Amino acid sequence: MNNFNFYSPTEFVFGKDRENDCGEYVKKYGGTKVLLVYGGGSAVKSGLIGRVEESLKNNGIGFSELGGVQPNPRDTLVYKGIDMCRAEGLDFILAVGGGSPIDTAKAIAIGVPYDGDFWDFYSGQARPEKAVPVATVLTIAAAGSEGSPDSVITKTDGMLKRGCGTDLIRPKFSVLDPALTQTLPAYQTACGATDIMAHVFERYFTNTKEVEITDRLCEAVLMTMIKETPRVIADPDNYDARANIMWAGMVAHNNIVGVGREQDWNSHGIEHELSALYDCAHGAGLAVIMPAWMEFVYKHDVMRFAQAAVRIWGVKMNFADPAVTALEGIHRFRMFLRSIGMPINFEELGAKEEDIPALVEKFGIGDGETGGFVHLKAADIAEIYRIAVRAEL
Ligand code: NZQ
Ligand code: ZN
Repeated sequence: MNNFNFYSPTEFVFGKDRENDCGEYVKKYGGTKVLLVYGGGSAVKSGLIGRVEESLKNNGIGFSELGGVQPNPRDTLVYKGIDMCRAEGLDFILAVGGGSPIDTAKAIAIGVPYDGDFWDFYSGQARPEKAVPVATVLTIAAAGSEGSPDSVITKTDGMLKRGCGTDLIRPKFSVLDPALTQTLPAYQTACGATDIMAHVFERYFTNTKEVEITDRLCEAVLMTMIKETPRVIADPDNYDARANIMWAGMVAHNNIVGVGREQDWNSHGIEHELSALYDCAHGAGLAVIMPAWMEFVYKHDVMRFAQAAVRIWGVKMNFADPAVTALEGIHRFRMFLRSIGMPINFEELGAKEEDIPALVEKFGIGDGETGGFVHLKAADIAEIYRIAVRAEL
């Protein structure tokens, strides 16, 4: 196991109706005037925004609102939020929604105290040094942004989707009420489940040896998702299954299952180009890319893929030919994705084979290499997209 620091300072406020307490938590973490950031309408329609406003008012906290964040959130609303915070002296940002409002809130948080363009942090030209405190009320188990130090934003000019990671934007608190996810359409639930599983797989496939504890934690999260996702798709109001998924989504991405081991993250990078170009859901893009990446790299460590197949998917080990076991595990993953309504190839996602050169170009590694488990070159990335074009069951 490698050396590591594990820092996850967020206070998680978990359970039914806990959003009604968010005013108290804003106060606890020093907020006096809040920017409330939310999405395209679900949180207004469900009455959640009203309840959050009520809680803020009951605690004497003023607020301004920035609604309309769209999935694959754009820089334009970030600029607007930065201007609002500066003009109105807002000292706390509360995101209500999924990864998109949360990541917008995080981008605003580091943009406000910075003299330059906040995009400098996403293009890698500058590192954030200060941030306005951020907190979240989560409405979809997916991105894990409620416990992560990351934010992913799309620059409208050129549709570049890029991430920034800093402990400064780890949420002060995150309210996780599983009941809030009961209004999710089945497709969004499945996209979220796929993203959660991908966050674990990005960590599971590693070159680091002797990491039994994190292997087993990863397997536990994946097996929970395999059990609970079909249950909530069949019965959206199943609170307990929703609760297990919601906590799995946090655990999958605050890095507790990934410490002490090299991680990969190429599937995420390769997917981000799809959601930037086609504006598809991140989870749907991962359903197409992650198994394709697995097929491309499994020979690098057949036994690790065979282990995943046996322990996670219950495949019988073929000792004479472990590659058969490894490939069966990847096949079971695709079958699972199909069973929860996810696309498994380019056509089903709405992506086009002829765009592959442009996707690779935008990925932007030139002659370099990227990734942790297997280092990929531009030609390898093109091949993974091609595997995703022809994938079938
Ligand atoms: O906008 P509204 O109307 O709220 O609808 C949203 C949106 O259409 C809807 N939704 C959310 N909660 C709902 C609901 N509909 C009904 N009932 C509810 N309770 O779901 C749709 C998706 O919302 P979004 O916030 O985009 O979802 P998600 O959490 O999947 O976030 C995706 C974004 O996060 C980034 C992705 O790349 C993508 O841009 N990621 C962020 C990460 C991070 N910050 O750590 C890591 C991830 O790997 C990921 O890259
Ligand atoms: Zn993700």
